[in-house]
Amino acid sequence: MENELIKLKNDASSLVIAAEDEQELNEIKLDFLGKNGKLTLLLKDIKKVPEESRREVGMLANEILSSVEELIERRIVEFKGKTREAIKKETLDVTMPGKKPRPGHLHLITQAIEEISQIFAHIGFERVRHPEVEWDWYAFGALNFPENHPARDDWETFFIDEAQHEKHGQMILTPHTSSGQIREMTKGKLPIKMLNIAKCYRRQSDVSHSQIFHQFETLIVGENISIANLKGTLDYFVKSWFGPERKTRLRPYHFQFTEPSFETDVSCGVCNGTGKLPDGTKCRLCKEGWLEIGGAGMVHPNVLKACGIDPEKYTGFASGWGVERVLMMREGLELDDLRILYSNNLDFLEQF
Ligand code: DAH
Repeated sequence: MENELIKLKNDASSLVIAAEDEQELNEIKLDFLGKNGKLTLLLKDIKKVPEESRREVGMLANEILSSVEELIERRIVEFKGKTREAIKKETLDVTMPGKKPRPGHLHLITQAIEEISQIFAHIGFERVRHPEVEWDWYAFGALNFPENHPARDDWETFFIDEAQHEKHGQMILTPHTSSGQIREMTKGKLPIKMLNIAKCYRRQSDVSHSQIFHQFETLIVGENISIANLKGTLDYFVKSWFGPERKTRLRPYHFQFTEPSFETDVSCGVCNGTGKLPDGTKCRLCKEGWLEIGGAGMVHPNVLKACGIDPEKYTGFASGWGVERVLMMREGLELDDLRILYSNNLDFLEQF
């Protein structure tokens, strides 16, 4: 009996020491000290021990029982402590001061688009949006482009690999915002006074060109619209955007969809439109005092006709300028690579 008791004690002790978690300890406890546990059962046999040694064996049995119990309890406390420590490491101290997120701001092109929209909204232009994935007819055909015009060439325009539209031709990415003119004019509602700002896509990518850029396009169609309205609108925009001292001029040019057509220029802010710096040297920014902003003109009668508008009764003007261009001109931005505008370079973006 004594030997059996000592063997059980040793077995229990080595199992308790090797146990890896609390659950295992509870199982050992049940196995040795539970109702039908090995030690419990053995203790029941004490009555069978001869009387003369019963007292001694009883004392040994009690000692073994409490030492096994104590060992198990000690290890349980140990595991609990470990868990507490592990929990401590993982917990979030909600009383600690937080990390402040860095405040962001709108991208400089988004800021420019908002400002341009506001400037035109003051004189009644309605901001519109039209598809950037477009049919050839809206971007070229209805804008009076001949079938073989180079802008339609694969090298300028992105063509989408889709079946042709029976009336509107190939699917493309809009290479300019002028497609929005056709979208507005074919709605069948006059007068029109739209500002279309959108992304444009062209197959060009180098330090001064990006495959994606933005244009803002104005279009007015109504009765008695003249070049004076075009010149006045251009003048108003330029003074609002660049400053009241700046002057504008129209220079004859050619576009398929306007007649007459113009390049629009703004007086240079560096040399005040003189083309010369105070020391008499040539201004390096402009050409003889003028900077080019973009195209404009009176809507071509063929374009009005293509959209079902009577060119005898209605006239209109349109202009299309680059958002990046007017932004860089105003900010005096000389970018080594224009494509930085579309990168996520925070050192650059945070300056605006
Ligand atoms: N769509 C032309 C381009 O991307 C710019 C343009 C020129 C727009 C004359 C106009 C315009 O509305 O009248 O080069």
